[in-house]
Amino acid sequence: MTPEELLTTTRTVRKRLDLTRPVPQELVERALTLALQAPTGSNRQDWHWIVVTDPGKRAELAELYRRSYNAYRGAGPSPEERFPSDESRAATQHRVQNSADYLSEHLHEVPVLVVPAITVPDGKLPPGNQAGLWGSILPAVWSYMLAARTLGLGTAYTSLHLVYEKEAAEVLGLPRDVRQAALIPTAFHTGDTFRPAARQPLSEVLHRDRW
Ligand SMILES: Cc1cc2nc3c(=O)[nH]c(=O)nc-3n(C[C@H](O)[C@H](O)[C@H](O)COP(=O)(O)O)c2cc1C
Repeated sequence: MTPEELLTTTRTVRKRLDLTRPVPQELVERALTLALQAPTGSNRQDWHWIVVTDPGKRAELAELYRRSYNAYRGAGPSPEERFPSDESRAATQHRVQNSADYLSEHLHEVPVLVVPAITVPDGKLPPGNQAGLWGSILPAVWSYMLAARTLGLGTAYTSLHLVYEKEAAEVLGLPRDVRQAALIPTAFHTGDTFRPAARQPLSEVLHRDRW
C-alpha cells in the first residue's frame, strides 16, 4: 500500500469488522508500538493503552456505549435537517447512521476494544484550551488506526462511551488521574475495497493569511 492509499482509504470500519475471527494480541501490540512514535507535548508520553479482550469487560463497555449512543441518536437532527441544502451529504449521513447503528448493536462482539488514555494531574482536565492535552494522545490514536490497517485490521474511532467515562474507568480499574480519549473497536475486516471518501473540497476550507 502506498502512503497515499493508506491516508485516503483508512475508513471507519463498522459493518465490515469480522466479529468471528480472533485477533492475535501481537498484532495489536505491533500497531501500538508503531503508534508510540507519534508526537506528544514536551515529549511527555503520558499515554496508556488498555487492550480489552475479556468478553465480560467488552460487554460492560459496549453497554455504556449503547446507552450513550441511543441518547445521541434520539436527540440529534435528521440527516435532512443537518444538511438541508446538500442532498448528497444527507444521503451519506444516512449511511453513516445505519453503519453506526450496526456498530452500537454489535460492539460487544468486536474481539478487541482499545481504550487510549492519558495521565492528567489529579485527573482534572485543564481549564481553557485543551489542545495541548488531547494533542498528546490523539495523533497516536490515528497512528494506531493507520498502523492497524497496514496489518490487515479494521478500526473505528469512537468517543460516545466517554459520556460514561467514570463508569468505564471502574470497569477497567483505571487510576483516578487517567482520562480516556476514545474507544477503538479493532478486528480483521471482511472485504478490502476501501475507497477515498467524499470530503468538502479544500477550496471551501482553505484560508490564506486570514479568514
Ligand atoms: C472525534 C471523533 C469521534 C467519533 N465518534 C464516533 C462514535 O462514537 N461512534 C461512531 O460510530 N463513529 C464515531 N466517529 C467516526 C465518524 O463518524 C467518522 O470518522 C466519519 O463519519 C467519517 O467517516 P470515515 O472515517 O469512514 O471517513 C468519530 C470520529 C471522530 C474523529
